[in-house]
Amino acid sequence: MDAESGADPVRAPRILLGVSGGIAAYKAAELVRALVREGAEVQCILTRRAEQFVTPLALATLSGRPVARTEFGDEPAPTILHIDLVRWADALVVAPATGNVLARFARGLADDLLSTVYLAFDGPVVVAPAMNPRMWDHEETRENVARLGRRGVTVVPPGEGFLACGDEGAGRLVPLEEIVAEALAAARRSSSLDGMHVVVSAGPTYEPIDPARFVGNRSSGRMGFAIAAAARARGAQVTLVHGPVALAPPWGVETVPVRTAGEMRAAMRQAARAARVVVMAAAVADHRPAAAAERKISRREPYTLDLVPNPDILAELTAARRAGQVIVGFAAETHDVVERAQAKKKRKGCDLLLANDVSTPGSGFEAEDNRVTLIDERGRAEPWPLMSKRQVAERLLDRVERLLARGEGP
Ligand code: CTP
Repeated sequence: MDAESGADPVRAPRILLGVSGGIAAYKAAELVRALVREGAEVQCILTRRAEQFVTPLALATLSGRPVARTEFGDEPAPTILHIDLVRWADALVVAPATGNVLARFARGLADDLLSTVYLAFDGPVVVAPAMNPRMWDHEETRENVARLGRRGVTVVPPGEGFLACGDEGAGRLVPLEEIVAEALAAARRSSSLDGMHVVVSAGPTYEPIDPARFVGNRSSGRMGFAIAAAARARGAQVTLVHGPVALAPPWGVETVPVRTAGEMRAAMRQAARAARVVVMAAAVADHRPAAAAERKISRREPYTLDLVPNPDILAELTAARRAGQVIVGFAAETHDVVERAQAKKKRKGCDLLLANDVSTPGSGFEAEDNRVTLIDERGRAEPWPLMSKRQVAERLLDRVERLLARGEGP
C-alpha cells in the first residue's frame, strides 16, 4: 500500500466500459485500445443496439476479456453478473452514451445489463454523450444531464461539428484522449481514500423549548450527505453524524442520528478520535433555550425565551486535533462573505473552510446547488462557480487529499 494516498500503486485501474447504440459506438474499439495502452484493465458492456455498430468480438479481442451483454451472461453461471462486475470495477465509463442511456440512468431504470450495473455501482461514473444536436439540446436530455451531474456523475459534454446524420452542432463524441483522461482520473479517485476514516456532520440541530417546540434552522443536510457519499465512493470508511433531516442515508455509510447540539458534540468527539478527516458541515444551532420546559407552554402564559450559547464543536475538535488529521469547517454568511469566512477559519483553527452565501437564491440552505468560496490552508479565498452539492463535495475532497498527501499520516 502507498502510505501517503492509501492507494495500491501496483494494481492496474479497472474500468467498466459501457458502449451504447449510437453511430459513435464504432469508436469504442479505438477507446479500448487507448485505455489498455494507458495500463488499464477494461471490461466492456455492450447494449443490444450497440452491437449493430461494433462487434463483441472486436471489443473482446482488444480488451482481452469476453464482452458482457446481458444480465444473465451468455452461459448459465452460479454468480450474479452485474454484482461481480461492480465489485471488480474502479470506475464505470459510458462512451458513447445515447440520449436513451442518459434517460434510463437519470430515472434509475434497470432494464438491461448496463443500466442495472449503473444502479448497483457506487463508485465514480463518467458518461460521454453523443447524439444528434436536437436530441442533445432537448429539455429532457438537459434535465437528465443535470440530474446525473447532481448525483456526482462526470458528464463529458459532446463537441461541436458535422455529425454522421448530416446535421451540424453539439453532439459529437469528444476526442478519445479526453475520455481516457476522465476515465483514469475517476478510477484513481475510487480508491484515493481507501480505508481512511472520514467523519462528516450534517443537517441542523433542534434545541427543545418544550416537548412540542424547538429552536432550529433551515439546513437540509444535503451538503454533508453529498460529502459522505463522495468520500464513500473514494473508498473511505465514513461516519455521518446528522441532525433531523429528510434524506435517505448514503449507501455504505455509518450514520449516527442526533437531535441537539449537545448530542452532536458528544457523537463528533467520539467519532473524531479515530478519524483522519473531519468535516463539520452541520448547521449547529448557535443558541439553545436555557432550560426546556417539561410541559407544553400555553399561549395564555406570558413567556420569554432565554437562550444560552452552544459550545463551538468545530473549535473543540481542532483544539483536540491528532497529528495528520485534516479538519474542514463551513461558514454560513449573509454579508462580507470572504472577510468573515477568513476570520472564522482563523478563529476556529480548521485547515480548509467552505463559505456559503446563504442569502443567494438557488444556493446554500435547502438548495440542490451551491456557490461557495474556499478559504484554503493559507487563508486565501478561492471562489468556486455554482455547481451541484455533489460536485462541491468532489472538489473539496480533492483539496483534502492534497493536504493528506503533504501530512505525515496517522
Ligand atoms: N459550528 C460548530 N459548533 C457551533 C456552531 C458552529 O461546530 N456551535 C461549526 C459549523 O458546523 C461550521 C462552522 O462552525 O463548520 C461555522 O458555522 P457558522 O454558523 O457559520 O459560524 P458560527 O460559529 O455560528 O459564527 P457566527 O455566528 O459568528 O457566524
